[in-house]
Amino acid sequence: MIKTVKPLKTSLKGEVVIPADKSISHRAVMFSSLAEGECIVRNFSSGADCHSTLELFKALGVDISFIDKKTLKIKGAGAKFHPEKQTNTYSFSPYVYPYPCGNSGTTMRLVSGILAGQNFNSVLTGDESLSKRPMKRIIEPLSLMGADISSVDGHAPLTIRGRNLHGITYRSSLSSAQVKSCILLAGLNAEGETTFEEPYVSRNHTENLFKYLGADITINNNSVTVRPSVMQAKDIDIVGDISSAAFFITAGLIVEGSDFIIKNVGLNETRSGIIDVVERMGGDIEILNQHTTAGEEVGDIRVRYSKNLKGCTIEGSDIPRLIDELPVIAVLASQAEGETIVKNAGDLRNKESDRIKCLVQELSNIGVHIKEQEDGFVITGKSKLKGGCETESYHDHRLAMSFYIAGLIAENEIAINGFEWTKISFPEFEELFSKLAM
Ligand code: S3P
Repeated sequence: MIKTVKPLKTSLKGEVVIPADKSISHRAVMFSSLAEGECIVRNFSSGADCHSTLELFKALGVDISFIDKKTLKIKGAGAKFHPEKQTNTYSFSPYVYPYPCGNSGTTMRLVSGILAGQNFNSVLTGDESLSKRPMKRIIEPLSLMGADISSVDGHAPLTIRGRNLHGITYRSSLSSAQVKSCILLAGLNAEGETTFEEPYVSRNHTENLFKYLGADITINNNSVTVRPSVMQAKDIDIVGDISSAAFFITAGLIVEGSDFIIKNVGLNETRSGIIDVVERMGGDIEILNQHTTAGEEVGDIRVRYSKNLKGCTIEGSDIPRLIDELPVIAVLASQAEGETIVKNAGDLRNKESDRIKCLVQELSNIGVHIKEQEDGFVITGKSKLKGGCETESYHDHRLAMSFYIAGLIAENEIAINGFEWTKISFPEFEELFSKLAM
């Protein structure tokens, strides 16, 4: 689907409520399915990725039902699943169960940690983009725990033969919440202790929910240890997704005259790097009504048009705290004075698309002065965005939404090819946007 974005003639005003966090929605379904007892999950994401996780756990035999569009009732299986009891599960050979993960890296990587220690065999499949994403990062540590996984040269489909696992201490060279969560989930069901260490702390929703649901977990700076334990179900309210809010934050800062409130935004310290960057750039942003729910910080954000943004350097420990926001931060940086340098972000090349190459190519086309680097990019700001072109989203939801924001301030309209991919994380994106523009 091609979406045409016209330069915005009005400013953005009013209020917008941000839908559920994608990372927490995945984990709420997975961990409640693994827990003992029944719970209600409120404000579940409508994104296709989270629905891939939901369908997968239903196929594993977990009793999950919708109370309404965003509220789930989950009866946990208590650590061990029984797909053989599912009459609608198609097994293509005896005792091998196929589970499609769609476009969702979080589903495939976290579920691998859960299935590796079950007493049945399964195959995880993905769509074209997911089948190109690296899986060695989870296969290697899981194998050290005794898992038996085969892949196509480190890529999906993954064939997982259930085995008894044992704990390990794993020092990861990558800061990755997906790898960390995979290993911690495997550790819950392994013999002995499992410790995962990473260079900088990546998003810690797994740790927060593990604590909330009573798993045996100890956290020491960037090192997390779990011991075998069964979680106890508890109701979960999911906060709004700061990665979705990032598109609105950027729009508010760069669309002239804008002043609005973004409500219910998750403000977890391991995710809020974009707020720090906006402050570093001199953007007008204010946090209101901050409080905690189900172990997560949440609040409202007031954002105002900021004429005098300044470029900055984004690197090191910043990166895991804003990894998914970098495409839209590039749009923001295009309107700041001076250079913005993004480095140490090489893993951006392993996302739904090669987010360095594709971003540089498409933003250059729109008129941004952006240079590709091996592990990031450099932007020289105050670019006039000419637009008047067709951009490609490369089946990548975050690129599609970033180009939409660029289109709002371009001189001529922009056509975005593959805009329907926004359904992966944020199906409500355009509808919420148009409310602010009215
Ligand atoms: C996620 C972790 C991040 C992020 C992804 C969601 C998660 O990936 O980019 O969108 O929910 O754990 P990495 O762990 O690969 O950095």
